[in-house]
Amino acid sequence: MKKVQIKNFASYTPELTVSNDDLSQIMDTSDEWIKSRTGISNRKISLNENTSDLCLKVAQKLIQKNNINVNDIGLIIVATMSPDACTPSTSAIVQGKLNAKNAMAFDISAACSGFIYGLEIAQKMMRQSSFKYSIVIGGEVLSKEVDWTDRTCAVLFGDGAAGALLENDAQVESFYEADVKTFGELGDRLVAGQTDPIQAFPPKEFTKFHPFEMDGRAVYKFATSEVPQSMMRASETNQIDFDKIDYFVLHQANYKIIKSIAKKIKQPLDKFPMDMDKYGNTSAASIPLMLADLQENNKLHEGQLLMLAGFGGGLTIGSQIIKL
Ligand code: UT7
Repeated sequence: MKKVQIKNFASYTPELTVSNDDLSQIMDTSDEWIKSRTGISNRKISLNENTSDLCLKVAQKLIQKNNINVNDIGLIIVATMSPDACTPSTSAIVQGKLNAKNAMAFDISAACSGFIYGLEIAQKMMRQSSFKYSIVIGGEVLSKEVDWTDRTCAVLFGDGAAGALLENDAQVESFYEADVKTFGELGDRLVAGQTDPIQAFPPKEFTKFHPFEMDGRAVYKFATSEVPQSMMRASETNQIDFDKIDYFVLHQANYKIIKSIAKKIKQPLDKFPMDMDKYGNTSAASIPLMLADLQENNKLHEGQLLMLAGFGGGLTIGSQIIKL
């Protein structure tokens, strides 16, 4: 079978940093509350760049870094829950601006598990195709979906994008079998951008989109119980013990969730890198942002095994072991 390799990662975040103290100026919250409950100190907020702008920067960085011909890209996937529009897809906007004429482009909506869903789709499609490269990006401008008067959500989220370049017919196989699941029956625990059905005809106004709403406690419970089980299934299916994994790169929603998962799978916390203090929860961008940060800090090396694990809206989860 053809090998598909993750070549490397790239990220782009907006310029503006908003601290917990900045937020406490505009809503009834405090650095102490946010930091102690989540580990978040700062987040990046986009002022006038939309999701496709952030994702385009990531794609350009990946092309430049790997010195590839844009015509060799056959697939561009953007995982996002905050697209520029319902249509065109954010990935189509990126594809158009890159002038990647040979690339099929589409978005996927799997919230914070989106990057893992995207990798899973891309690597499987690549084995059946002859194109050389795919780009998978997780990108979000969640600040446009949050209700800035709702402190229970507004303090948690941030904007950013990051992604990976995948090579087809490569020297190294990066992918092991993923454990990916959807729990649609729990979908109402985390909802954003919901629309109402038309109330009257002819309608008097445009359909409204509702802001982010989350039952934080329910999602917390879900994550701390389902994610370790998913990670264990991925470990067992691929017969790779947790001890063999160099880093566990988890969705950066809350340091307490990560601590609890580390304890449940009996692995030391220093194998769980965290950057929610800088970026907050960036949904689909969170796992690739962490990967790009690790790479920039020279923590990633050829031959290492990483386990990625995401959880969030859908509800969705995914655990993916990759080899660098
Ligand atoms: O990316 C998708 C996945 N999402 C997640 O993984 C999120 C999972 N959930 C969590 O991380 C936590 O549940 C939160 C961080 C969202 C909330 O932490 P919590 O310890 O579960 O707090 P809570 O929602 O139970 O609220 C506790 C108190 C409440 O006050 P009362 O009712 O006890 O008087 C809230 O009104 O804290 C209050 N509160 C705040 N206070 C200051 C809620 N938000 C804030 C705030 N600042 N921003």
